[in-house]
Amino acid sequence: MGKDSKRLLNTANGESAGVGDLENPLDFIAEDHMREREVCALIDRIVASASMESAELEQVLTFLEDHLPQHLADEEIDLFPLMLKRCDPEDEIDKVIDKLQSDHSHAIADAPAIAAIIQGFGEGRSKPSRSDSQQMAEFAHHSRRHLILENAVILPIARARLTKDDLNTMKRHMQERRGLRASLENE
Ligand SMILES: [Fe+2]
Ligand SMILES: [Fe+2]
Repeated sequence: MGKDSKRLLNTANGESAGVGDLENPLDFIAEDHMREREVCALIDRIVASASMESAELEQVLTFLEDHLPQHLADEEIDLFPLMLKRCDPEDEIDKVIDKLQSDHSHAIADAPAIAAIIQGFGEGRSKPSRSDSQQMAEFAHHSRRHLILENAVILPIARARLTKDDLNTMKRHMQERRGLRASLENE
């Protein structure tokens, strides 16, 4: 499959566009973090009862329902195990990863409820209830704390420690996860 066809497939996969083209899969993880930060800002605006475009609500829903599960799988199935393999005990990375995995369990458990609130909000409810607002604000708060830890600690160490083979394996798995692998095998 040529590059244009691959791009079309990427586009069909929404914001997973780019994972086939990026040299370093850690750059794609960093881009996902920027997307997550944008979604947190949109959730803040919903909590503040700001007027929202339907495209913005859709952006939050697509992230929560599609991109977040893929991103968490990228980290739990590929990034974290590779880091545990490559880091020295004195890095104490295992403790950080335990904390991040516990955050992921909460995010996976809470995301459907947040999506349901936003779905209802998009269907004509003018303001989120106080308890819905509290739930959304906590979700955004926890997501931001998690992002800070991953951007400040995990990604810089990963860039220093993972080998070229590690990055190739990770990239291949990320493409498979997004249905892009078969197209690359035919190139
Ligand atoms: Fe992350
Ligand atoms: Fe994470």
